[in-house]
Amino acid sequence: MRDVLKGLFDLTGKVALVTGATTGLGMQQVIALRSAGASVVALGRRQERLDQLAAGDSEIVPVVADLADISQLDDTAARCVQVFGRIDILCNTAGVNLRQHADDVTPDDWDMTQDLNLKIPFFLAQKLVPQMAERGWGKVINVASLQSRRAFSNGIAYGASKGGVEQLTRAMAEAWSSRGISCNAIAPGFFPTELTQAVFENDSLSDQLARQTAVGRNGELEDLNGVCIFLASHGSDYITGQTIFIDGGFTAK
Ligand SMILES: NC(=O)c1ccc[n+]([C@@H]2O[C@H](COP(=O)([O-])OP(=O)(O)OC[C@H]3O[C@@H](n4cnc5c(N)ncnc54)[C@H](OP(=O)(O)O)[C@@H]3O)[C@@H](O)[C@H]2O)c1
Repeated sequence: MRDVLKGLFDLTGKVALVTGATTGLGMQQVIALRSAGASVVALGRRQERLDQLAAGDSEIVPVVADLADISQLDDTAARCVQVFGRIDILCNTAGVNLRQHADDVTPDDWDMTQDLNLKIPFFLAQKLVPQMAERGWGKVINVASLQSRRAFSNGIAYGASKGGVEQLTRAMAEAWSSRGISCNAIAPGFFPTELTQAVFENDSLSDQLARQTAVGRNGELEDLNGVCIFLASHGSDYITGQTIFIDGGFTAK
């Protein structure tokens, strides 16, 4: 019988760039993609964290960069490509959530949130897609959220940015899929990271959120592995413009 699994999820020979790699979801994506065989460029601002992640593995290479400074983006993208000579898979995972009530958000807070969560993922992809298209294959994986579709307190700027990410993903797919680039997003439920520290320090709140899922618990970082590898691999080549919720059924209820 023909082995349909051969090469389907194997990322050997592929090069991934993961932004937001110092902690949380991005760090887990580095681990998942690397274990599927990819070489990984791990981008963040905290050098020490990236060095820990890359320790003892020459196929994980840190790139220290501040994505908030768009004037540096050309240089940042070039440095990332230079590491292994190409980027095949872009995981746009860096993000911020300032958790401010609508009454308190300033224009600067608003801009910072939209820039990091929505603008930079687009412009970084815009810089990397042409070299993917030269090889006729590539993957962009954005990070949306429950807040792409649901309103939460203190989430007006964040929710607007993540609603935008879902539509950005469709628009990227429309623009680039014909050149062999699949563009999809993951939408995580609640996972314990630095970003959600305030949620997980509040037992009654995190219990309440767990009860709102169909599975009955909040996410664990390992829950990301399967979808992350799938969306980065040939296994998802005919899937584009989609947002996959990794939320234990939160949005199904
Ligand atoms: N945790 C959840 O439950 C959850 C749910 C839905 C969506 N998400 C999304 O998942 C993504 C990752 O979040 P997380 O939960 O893993 O949060 P996290 O642990 O706080 O990670 C955020 C990452 O973004 C990086 N980052 C922040 N500002 C940056 C900048 N100016 N330049 C470069 N990198 C920057 C941080 O690295 P440095 O500080 O070292 O730069 C860090 O690696 C975000 O887009 C978030 O919105 C998370």
